[in-house]
Amino acid sequence: MLLRHARELLTMDRELPRSGAPTWDPGDLGVVRDGAVGVADGRIVAVGTTAEVERRFPVSSGDTVVEVGDRVLAPGLVDCHTHALFVQDRAEEFSLRLQGRSYQDIARAGGGIASSVRALRSASDAQLQATLARRLRRMALRGVTTVEVKTGYALDTANELRSLRAIAAVEGAVPTFLPYHAVPPELRASPDGRSRYLKEVSEVMLPAVLAAGLARFIDAYVDGAGFSPAEVREALQRARASGLGVRLHVGQFDDVGGAELAAELGATSADHLEHVTDRGLDALSSAGTVAVLLPGAAFSLGQTPPDARRLRAHGVSVAVATDSNPGTSRTENLPLMASLAVRLEGLTTVEAWHAITAVPARSLGLDDRGRLRPGMRADLCVLDLPTWEALPYVLGDVHAPLVLRAGVPLAAMASPELCQHVP
Ligand code: NIG
Ligand code: FE
Repeated sequence: MLLRHARELLTMDRELPRSGAPTWDPGDLGVVRDGAVGVADGRIVAVGTTAEVERRFPVSSGDTVVEVGDRVLAPGLVDCHTHALFVQDRAEEFSLRLQGRSYQDIARAGGGIASSVRALRSASDAQLQATLARRLRRMALRGVTTVEVKTGYALDTANELRSLRAIAAVEGAVPTFLPYHAVPPELRASPDGRSRYLKEVSEVMLPAVLAAGLARFIDAYVDGAGFSPAEVREALQRARASGLGVRLHVGQFDDVGGAELAAELGATSADHLEHVTDRGLDALSSAGTVAVLLPGAAFSLGQTPPDARRLRAHGVSVAVATDSNPGTSRTENLPLMASLAVRLEGLTTVEAWHAITAVPARSLGLDDRGRLRPGMRADLCVLDLPTWEALPYVLGDVHAPLVLRAGVPLAAMASPELCQHVP
């Protein structure tokens, strides 16, 4: 397949300087005008101007040619923090928050995560998988080809494993085991419920998850209303020693030392960061841990969002994700999150492109995507943006007439007016 004559091709084949100085230089996106990409056997075989690529890979019989035209051709977008395996909305909680109730207060009264847990446990395997697959198909309509998906709405061994199986079965989903999301509803009332749950995770759930071999990452909600570093450290270390990467929810409501814990554990990402000290940021920077901004959650909770300039000034790499979940960020729209991160948190548009492509791919340990380079997996999207600069300007109103995952056009999007088969 040849995708050609893209007004702008973004190869993302550059590293942003670690100094964190704001950049608006399209050179930092590897922009190629009149760009083209050649694809064979699910891989990228050539990237450059249309003239260059056509010279090296002349179109032959049986090929498909895509005339990208006045659109942007970019790596498939990567959403590296979601709780997209949920089966029920919680709109009433949003109304309560608008009326002044706090997120923590609603959770204490039995709503919040506990209500999503009850709903998930009563859903069938088929319903879980179908719901998630539908959500990822909708995300792909905006160019997203890889989505990290956390468990954590099950919180018992059998249902956490069921959740992981559902996630692993959906193309494009990367499974993260999140046992430390909340104490499950059936244990909350009893005085030793919390310690019993911690023991169950450590002695039963984690070994079962490691044996099943389905999870790539482990996550913990390290926060005042979540878990303390002391409660989760040992199990996270063990998970890591057994090959899971670590991603942590850090400082969404309170700074309880989550950033320092993330650095200590060599976590690949530390997410949220509404509350974090300079020391915590220095620790993340030294450890090479990616900060994941979740502007949908801060917006939906009415919080002051983190200052991306402060993170960048500490030399921390920044990703942006949806946090797609029924409680704090009921969105599937990654480009809209990029828009919020630029307008409300101070990322530049150039940094925002990195934050939804190369940086999240790195934080997921996926070095075969997030950039366009020969040999990488052919995860690509054609976005109906007039130019790269329009990403924050269009407020999430981005459509992808063509999306490839490993070279395969995603069914809903194989737009016939774009793709021509060479006879
Ligand atoms: O990332 N606060 C922790 N976890 C989620 C929310 C989960 C929920 O409320 O269902 C978050 O914001
Ligand atoms: Fe989250």
